[in-house]
Amino acid sequence: MQLDAEQQARFDRDGYLFFPGLFRPDEVKTLTDEVPRLYAMDRPENVREKNGRSVRTNFAAHLYSAPFARLSRHPRMIRPVEQLFGEKLYMHQFKINGKQAFDGDVWQWHQDYGTWLNDDLMPTPRAMNVAIFLDEVNEFNGPLMFIPGSHKLGALPAGHDLTTTSYPLWTIDNDAIAQLVAKAGGREGGIVSPQGPAGSMIMFHSCLVHASSSNLSPWHRVSVYLSLCAVSNHIRRHKRVEYIAHRDFTPIETLPDDCLLKPYPVDLPWQGGTPASALVTSMEELKEMA
Ligand code: SIN
Ligand code: MN
Repeated sequence: MQLDAEQQARFDRDGYLFFPGLFRPDEVKTLTDEVPRLYAMDRPENVREKNGRSVRTNFAAHLYSAPFARLSRHPRMIRPVEQLFGEKLYMHQFKINGKQAFDGDVWQWHQDYGTWLNDDLMPTPRAMNVAIFLDEVNEFNGPLMFIPGSHKLGALPAGHDLTTTSYPLWTIDNDAIAQLVAKAGGREGGIVSPQGPAGSMIMFHSCLVHASSSNLSPWHRVSVYLSLCAVSNHIRRHKRVEYIAHRDFTPIETLPDDCLLKPYPVDLPWQGGTPASALVTSMEELKEMA
């Protein structure tokens, strides 16, 4: 899948592209069928909400689940980003966000690049999020909200919020958000919220300011996020565990377009558990282990 000139211009202006229903229901089913098994696992990659029960986010399933390993090499997700960056990509982060019915907590206003810069020393924002909805996303189940055009501002000042949810995040303060929304059009388009059926895909710039509310509806809002980084822009620090910020910068090789429906062989290196080296968070210790 390649982006045409109009899509590229729109991405440059808004900082995101939305592709409603890009993946068919039979393709999505191969993924949704796998989620309960992954969420039931007792592994550190399952980060739970403050209630200690519902999975907020599952990390790195592409290393221990065949359907998600295939998704992580899907040309519909990888090719448009390769096209925009003009180089090969590696997987910086892979997550399946639960946003479970009644229990799914907020994601505060932030830019992903804020965290990747502050925690991981990623040199530039040449990294992209590509998300697929595994459930329908509607106005009730905590859809993503974007401030269009905010990606143009680069990395904004952010504070490390360790308390609002169960997951630490570099977040942007309310005054700055109010100003950004006003500048982007206020009530006339200053916040947008792509919604659509399961199988829809969103591509968004790593500096695009975004958030989502909690999910008080009776409908789950499970979505998968691939955070794809240009290989030359790999992170320079390994302060976070490897299942959150990957340290393998091998370029992603895509599979054929029907890879969700056919059992193409894939490596599952973490199938037997998280390697001890992935839990190490100091460069010195990592060097000693090498
Ligand atoms: C994120 O910002 O990484 C996740 C937001 C969401 O899933 O609503
Ligand atoms: Mn984010």
